[in-house]
Amino acid sequence: MFDKLLRKKTTAVPSTLQERLAIVKEKPVPTHVAIIMDGNGRWAKQRKLPRIAGHHEGMKTVRKTTLFANELGIQVLTLYAFSTENWKRPKLEIDFLMKLPGEFLSTYLPELVENNVKVEMIGSSDLLPSHTKEAIQKAMEATAHNDGMILNFAMNYGSRFEVVEAVKTLALQLSENTIQLEELTEETVSGAMMTSHLPDPDLLIRTSGEVRLSNFMLWQLAYAELAFTEVLWPDFNEESMLSIIEDYQKRSRRFGSLEGDEIK
Ligand code: FPP
Repeated sequence: MFDKLLRKKTTAVPSTLQERLAIVKEKPVPTHVAIIMDGNGRWAKQRKLPRIAGHHEGMKTVRKTTLFANELGIQVLTLYAFSTENWKRPKLEIDFLMKLPGEFLSTYLPELVENNVKVEMIGSSDLLPSHTKEAIQKAMEATAHNDGMILNFAMNYGSRFEVVEAVKTLALQLSENTIQLEELTEETVSGAMMTSHLPDPDLLIRTSGEVRLSNFMLWQLAYAELAFTEVLWPDFNEESMLSIIEDYQKRSRRFGSLEGDEIK
């Protein structure tokens, strides 16, 4: 009798990833997901490997996450790949991190093209080595006409730097009288950001148990849902992502109002 009841229960609960994915796709998924990919170093340390081995494994997670986000119907995936603060790391680690876009794109670009993914970048390309710039530029050109998910790499990105640059742009426009003070609105400020053509993230994910924003999209994340997971980035997989999206779909996004709106 109990056996029968148990069996009945298990059939009602979606068990496989595919079943859960199908249910998630029936409800609105976040349009823009931003991820702080953290924990590569700790993943490597646990295995007595050099930190760069963690970053290399993290690159494979970038591929897996991109394909899965695309399958989920997410329209923009922004990944924090290198921050303006990451220049303080040892040279060997920086050099390795700078080579990853090249390796990632030379290995996976055909797959991205096949999946209609468009590669973009936010951040300042000024300090990037030429081979890094060229790899990203080549991928952006090769995918420029794709109209599927945008894979947006934040490389040498810092939110405060971005805000300062936006303020400079607007200050110049004010001094040249191309805009008036009354025209300075949330929209014009958003329009001066590197993400001007993108919707704000609906969901921010940070892996590895750290609970902070680390100078990432501070303006754009004003109303984002925040999800922090203990999973280290190289271990992050389809199940981790799905669990976070399932949780997101249960939340009520009110954007400051009192209405308990369904997730948008
Ligand atoms: C933070 O983990 C991670 C980074 C600084 C680099 C993230 C880069 C990748 C995941 C690969 C990017 C791939 C492409 C294709 C651009 P950490 O090193 O600070 O980890 P820890 O806190 O455990 O030391």
